[in-house]
Amino acid sequence: MPYPYVLLSAAVSLDGYLDDTGPDRLLLSSPADFDRVDEVRASVDAILVGAGTIRADNPRLLVNSPDRRAARLAAGKPEYPLKVTVSGSGELDPAAKFWHTGGEKVVYTTDKGAERARSLGLAADVVPLGPGLDWRRLLEHLHDVRGVRRLMVEGGGTIHTQLLQEGLADELQLVLAPLFVGDPHAPRLFGPGGYQGGRLRLVETRRIEDVVLMRYEPTAPGTGSLPAAADRHWLALACELAADCPPSRTAFSVGAVVVAADGTELARGHSREAGDPVVHAEEAALAKIDPGDPRLAAATVYTSLEPCTRRSSRPAPCARLILDAGVRRVVTAWREPDTFVHEADGTGLLTAAGVDVVVLPDHEVQAKAPNAHLL
Ligand SMILES: NC(=O)c1ccc[n+]([C@@H]2O[C@H](COP(=O)([O-])OP(=O)(O)OC[C@H]3O[C@@H](n4cnc5c(N)ncnc54)[C@H](OP(=O)(O)O)[C@@H]3O)[C@@H](O)[C@H]2O)c1
Repeated sequence: MPYPYVLLSAAVSLDGYLDDTGPDRLLLSSPADFDRVDEVRASVDAILVGAGTIRADNPRLLVNSPDRRAARLAAGKPEYPLKVTVSGSGELDPAAKFWHTGGEKVVYTTDKGAERARSLGLAADVVPLGPGLDWRRLLEHLHDVRGVRRLMVEGGGTIHTQLLQEGLADELQLVLAPLFVGDPHAPRLFGPGGYQGGRLRLVETRRIEDVVLMRYEPTAPGTGSLPAAADRHWLALACELAADCPPSRTAFSVGAVVVAADGTELARGHSREAGDPVVHAEEAALAKIDPGDPRLAAATVYTSLEPCTRRSSRPAPCARLILDAGVRRVVTAWREPDTFVHEADGTGLLTAAGVDVVVLPDHEVQAKAPNAHLL
């Protein structure tokens, strides 16, 4: 189930508000930051806002720079990114600027909302997603039907809250503006509810005139067989570790990371690390964790290649080590080929023992790269 890369973008006041309650939109960003937002818009395939933002702000959501639009056209992309909105009710003003500017538009809604949206004659493709709005179905549809690989979400708070709480946001681009709103009735960036337990990863801070851009990535693994955005980050790290392995003609190069449910990294490892010519990545990582660590039971093992089931170099294969550690979730990029072991099936062994194994094939090319000479 591939989804687009989801980038949440918002500007907030020092006291965490997205807007005030006045009739006009509160300008939180600085001119140079609006230009940065324009650049981000030019880099994505689609921009999404909630119906509440269309009602409150009547935005156009365009790429304003002619040079950036020309560059998109030169790269074979549409002049403007696809504009997407989400509405449960389908109650949308057909005169809003959203429909009459830029390129193509899509409305994702419920079955009931679709009847209403169609009756309004909106200049958009209306896509019902069932009795309720399912974000995973929406993202799958954008990816598979609309070819969206990068999605920028520009609010409002209701939308950002859901995408973050459902583990579907790959990145948060937050601009902090040096002003206060101070009105409890104003909309907040994030509402109450269940967020990931631990800390997000701060990947960048940048001063832009008098505002500060902060970029964060979520860190908490998904649960069960459902992938979360953070799974992709951790698996990418495992694939990077695979590239660090001492080369071998007789064994794969693999990277592994063990991550607690709250997004804390417990350990990492890679094949043949620290001068051990036969150690495997999962084995090396698990060996660094106290076997009594209570976080193991809810942890996820990320490994660039599925855990092995048979090996001659050590008594226990990695699938067994994972089971013995009490880990119940594994995310991998690539099923083991027959190069060294015929019909190895680490995934089968783990799933038979009740472990959820999630394969994210988007990372397969990266996982295979340091092993090209073996394939
Ligand atoms: N500072 C910034 O960067 C920024 C950016 C954007 C917006 N804003 C501000 O944010 C405010 C608007 O935020 P908001 O939270 O009220 O609205 P919103 O998030 O833009 O949209 C909420 C609407 O989206 C639809 N929706 C969302 N989740 C849904 C679900 N799971 N199922 C069905 N429908 C769903 C509903 O539409 P229906 O009501 O049609 O069912 C809901 O009312 C405005 O004041 C705006 O100025 C600020």
